Amino acid sequence: MLEAVERKISQYIEDLNDADAIALYTKLPHGKRLRAKLILKIAGSSLVSIKTAAIVEMIHAASLLHDDVIDDAFVRRGTASLNAIYGNKTAIMLGDILYSKGFYELNNIDKEVSKVISNAVVQLSLGERNDVLLSERFNSDKQKYLKMIYQKTASLMEASAEAAALLAGKPRETYRTYGRNLGIAFQMIDDLLDVIQTSEQLGKPAMHDYEEGKVTLPFIYLYESLDQVEKLRLTSLHAQRLSSDDQQWITIKMNEYGIVQKCFAEAKILVEEAISLMNEAGENSLENIARSMIERSF
Ligand code: IPE
Ligand code: IPE
Ligand code: MG
Ligand code: MG
Repeated sequence: MLEAVERKISQYIEDLNDADAIALYTKLPHGKRLRAKLILKIAGSSLVSIKTAAIVEMIHAASLLHDDVIDDAFVRRGTASLNAIYGNKTAIMLGDILYSKGFYELNNIDKEVSKVISNAVVQLSLGERNDVLLSERFNSDKQKYLKMIYQKTASLMEASAEAAALLAGKPRETYRTYGRNLGIAFQMIDDLLDVIQTSEQLGKPAMHDYEEGKVTLPFIYLYESLDQVEKLRLTSLHAQRLSSDDQQWITIKMNEYGIVQKCFAEAKILVEEAISLMNEAGENSLENIARSMIERSF
């Protein structure tokens, strides 16, 4: 089923009829295709669900191209990011091409589906902006963090699940909530993996978020646990290049206060909630995909 999505994406790229854009796109490694899998699992493999999945993956790829420029990240999907190789301008332009082609193709799909997806991309863009704004200062406000990760990440997963439900004639609200919970949990785990995994394991920079000023959930919880002196040390490291001593100190303190377990447990609650929603709806095949959001190493 996923191969059909790959073929559809290739076809959309070929349609551009532009050798340079095609060549650039071909250099991008594929990701895990989580959003496509989610759509196909909910909506089956009709032509319209394959198209929707292909469009969402193109939009997602565009968001990552821009995100790596925004985050100064030079590794993506296990290899040098496009901005690292060709510079920011090229990454932004290929992102624009993928976004606009995605929206163009969205026009040919059911209007409600198109509205759901395009509105999510508005949220995603606002979320990326809020992520940057929040990183300008040490943010210890968990509610602000939760809103921002909902916008930048969960909105597209929520929309994928809702759009797929629309296509399959299933109850949209239930699937929307399922997708939202998965998306929030997914980003919480992403933020956790940044502090516990190596760059090699992640295929993208590790311990990079805090250097970029991003006070993610593990850092918010760590801050809450530390004493006054330690709090000062942590905030003094905010948005700075971390020495290996600093990194080690952060890791030790995270272990001392059980931060990893705390974040994981919080993500797990969201996933369990999503699974019970699906059980109530009599949908048995969406449990694994929900678990894979949190039981992952990259
Ligand atoms: C990366 O998403 C961006 C986040 C929302 C954390 P994925 O981890 O799904 O990216 P790929 O497509 O598999 O590379
Ligand atoms: C990515 O957020 C979310 C979007 C691309 C919309 P992050 O900046 O946290 O994701 P990674 O860690 O670079 O994949
Ligand atoms: Mg990033
Ligand atoms: Mg980012």
